[in-house]
Amino acid sequence: MRNWWQQAVIYQIYPRSFADSNGDGIGDLRGIIGKLDYLAGTLGVDAIWCGPVYPSPQVDFGYDITDHTAIDPIFGTLDDFDALVTAAHARGIRVIIDLVPNHTSDRHPWFVESRSAPDSPKRDWYVWADPLPGGLPPSNWTSEQGGSTWEFDEPTGQYYLHSFHRTQPDLNWRSPRLRAAMLDVVRFWLDRGVDGFRIDVLHMIAKDPELTDNPPRPDATPNPADLQHPDYDTQWHVHDRMHPDLYGYLAEIRDLLEEYSRRTGQERIAIGEVEPMPWDSWTRFLGSELDGVHFTFNFNFIESPWHAAGLRASIGAQEAALPRGAWPNYVLSNHDRPRLATRNGPRSARLAALLLLTLRGTPTLYNGDELGLEDLEIPREEWLDPLGRDQVRGPMPWTSSRNGGFDSSPADASPWLPVPTRYLERSVERQLADPGSILNLYRRLLAFRRTSPALLRGEYRPLDCPPDCLAYLRSTPEQTLAVLLNLGAENATVDVPRPGHALLSGDRTPRRRFVVAAHEGLIVQLEPEVP
Ligand code: GLC
Ligand code: CA
Repeated sequence: MRNWWQQAVIYQIYPRSFADSNGDGIGDLRGIIGKLDYLAGTLGVDAIWCGPVYPSPQVDFGYDITDHTAIDPIFGTLDDFDALVTAAHARGIRVIIDLVPNHTSDRHPWFVESRSAPDSPKRDWYVWADPLPGGLPPSNWTSEQGGSTWEFDEPTGQYYLHSFHRTQPDLNWRSPRLRAAMLDVVRFWLDRGVDGFRIDVLHMIAKDPELTDNPPRPDATPNPADLQHPDYDTQWHVHDRMHPDLYGYLAEIRDLLEEYSRRTGQERIAIGEVEPMPWDSWTRFLGSELDGVHFTFNFNFIESPWHAAGLRASIGAQEAALPRGAWPNYVLSNHDRPRLATRNGPRSARLAALLLLTLRGTPTLYNGDELGLEDLEIPREEWLDPLGRDQVRGPMPWTSSRNGGFDSSPADASPWLPVPTRYLERSVERQLADPGSILNLYRRLLAFRRTSPALLRGEYRPLDCPPDCLAYLRSTPEQTLAVLLNLGAENATVDVPRPGHALLSGDRTPRRRFVVAAHEGLIVQLEPEVP
């Protein structure tokens, strides 16, 4: 029997935009509780990853934390959080939350104290360094938000490091007392029953202690699948992250999770969020004895070109890279990247659902992708996020009426981001009523996946097929499925190795040759092998 997280489909909730219970236009914890029946019943996912809901000035929308063990009033209270965990567990849904170890808000009491004096007892909880001669910053490192990662602190005469916004000072994991404090944070949430953590920018928590300059990268071209400031790519980020000391810090987190898993009999997991990188670096987060993270988010479908050869290569690369005993995973979108339907066009959405839910490994689905939502179009001068990521964080349209359910009262309240008409046309309400909708496709696939041994744990084997197609077998001794996906604009003919019949679609006649419509896919159940 596999562990729960290997069987699970994870659903990413962006709390501000998911569901609003009190009509102030911002999603909240009670809102999520109100949609658990949707998640568990209507849609049929197994776990939620709930983005950060800690107190925060919201410069980075919750990734700038001022208190790791409380809830921001805009999202609710600790009681609401406990109620969410209880209600989710009652429906068989696991709860994963964000752990943000790399930085806090500059308003966090730890930083306020650290900043207060060079000899503050918490000075070494953050990364402080003297200016170079001439008052220059300690290194040439550039931030994702643009400019230097160093901010000069006049009163104490030193610079502090911020890999992100200048209001997000980096924590110093080299300090044993800081590590102990962060492990206490992990304990706090484990004691409240959470099933796991998505560890934010895990690859960044240890840097070169010598603060060596990063080498320049003169030839960088902007990556359309990432939303970063152009300054960021002017250098190779080799010294400001990925220092090997981080694996030891990760092992401390994993040990604590193991202790809770053993004690409670419920496996608690760690998922690493790391930027795309070569596979051998990526797998290193799993630990040499699989004693690191349970898995590292795989963003290759976001980064690699959306055509059959690119996808096949990306799947094969992960399968080949994973050490024995490790488990694959796939992510199609998240709150930092252009949405799937925007990156690859609206026609890609159905096929993406088939792909995500039929591959070997744990799928993570971003809220709204099950509706085929595209990005919002927000003019630059109205961006709330410095990198314009508001556009990928639009509110979930639950209904087709004005604002899609984000404006119950007062009548003139408006959601924190606009809900355009094209979102209302794709609302949950409307799609549930349409048997051919993408939401109903997700529902059918999720329901089928739950009962299919081949999809849950079968081997993956690529099949020969026409160039615009992607075809593979998923098989266990009791079931063999062929998944036939046509990424091309023309119908395609695909052969399967033994006769089989199409599932989830009308025609069940057994055959060996299938016509797959343009931008569509089929799941075929093959007849048992005759020995
Ligand atoms: C991660 C988060 C992103 C955030 C950043 C800094 O990449 O996904 O939203 O801005 O870390 O915490
Ligand atoms: Ca609210």
